[in-house]
Amino acid sequence: MNKTQIGLGLAALGRPEYINIREDSNIDKSKTAFKTNAFDVLDFAYQNGVRFFDTAPSYGLGEHFLLDWKNARQHKDVTLSTKWGYTYVANWELGFEGKHEVKEHSVSKLNEQWETSKALLLQLKIYQVHSATIESGILKDTSIHERLFQLKKEYGLKIGITTSGFNQSEILNIAKDIAVNNELLFDSYQVTYNVFEQSTFNTLQELKTKGKTIIIKEALANGRVFTNEHTKKHLETLSKIYNVKIDAIALRFVIDTLQPTIVLSGASNTNHLAQNLKALDFELSLDHLELLKSLRINSKVYWDERRDLAWN
Ligand SMILES: NC(=O)c1ccc[n+]([C@@H]2O[C@H](COP(=O)([O-])OP(=O)(O)OC[C@H]3O[C@@H](n4cnc5c(N)ncnc54)[C@H](OP(=O)(O)O)[C@@H]3O)[C@@H](O)[C@H]2O)c1
Repeated sequence: MNKTQIGLGLAALGRPEYINIREDSNIDKSKTAFKTNAFDVLDFAYQNGVRFFDTAPSYGLGEHFLLDWKNARQHKDVTLSTKWGYTYVANWELGFEGKHEVKEHSVSKLNEQWETSKALLLQLKIYQVHSATIESGILKDTSIHERLFQLKKEYGLKIGITTSGFNQSEILNIAKDIAVNNELLFDSYQVTYNVFEQSTFNTLQELKTKGKTIIIKEALANGRVFTNEHTKKHLETLSKIYNVKIDAIALRFVIDTLQPTIVLSGASNTNHLAQNLKALDFELSLDHLELLKSLRINSKVYWDERRDLAWN
């Protein structure tokens, strides 16, 4: 079995405001400063063995930064994934009121965003529906399935789906059976799974047995593993035992329980990324895994809390 790799996600690197719990809100929020920082973090990641990078058109300039970095560095051994279906509308406006990204799952949005994203080829290997839901219509829209199938065949891409929300398992179970020309469409699943939200465990195990690519996002619950008053003391105890920070414990929990293909780091600076990468250097004992499994909470409660996170 291949070992889980840590990949780097650009959600926090490409736009000035995101729902993450940032330690330092006084950072320079200009586009130039963000691009410099994104290149620093991408270079640091590559130098430290990271070879998988995930972005989306709705991550502000995240997709452009990744493209510029790819073209500048010319690394042949990196794998990139991007998404389609959300448009960034906050226009780099600090304190933007309302939704910063707007969802539209239609063939025209897919074609529009593909025109930009295809510049990530040849390193682009996974092309994902961004945040599939029952309501968005994507699971039933055969014209979208057919267009994705065409892209899959024409460019040799894996077609992926990303999910969020209390009914992730339900969405995954519908998606896994979607076929075009009698061939299953989706090869890759990007899913939230962490010490608090473990509801997708069985579904992900099943997808793994079918040979699917499993990418775990939000392994740190958007930073809430650092702030949750009820679980902090357990996580702090383990962090002392293994001599790493809480983030490495939470990432290692994902690796040891699920062994996904990739677990994403959402770090927005090299310091945090360095701490995240320590998750690759140790294993949790069975007792400690049991302790961490017991920190799970009801999915509805988890996703209600996530919905209430502020953009900052
Ligand atoms: N629907 C989707 O498809 C979807 C949704 C969400 C995420 N994603 C993907 O998953 C990736 C990762 O998810 P995420 O960024 O949302 O969440 P995450 O990894 O759960 O959380 C990242 C948060 O943890 C903080 N952090 C990390 N290491 C830290 C440390 N050592 N000390 C203190 N704080 C630390 C980060 O702070 P700093 O920002 O200060 O580093 C940030 O606030 C994204 O970049 C994106 O590629 C996809």
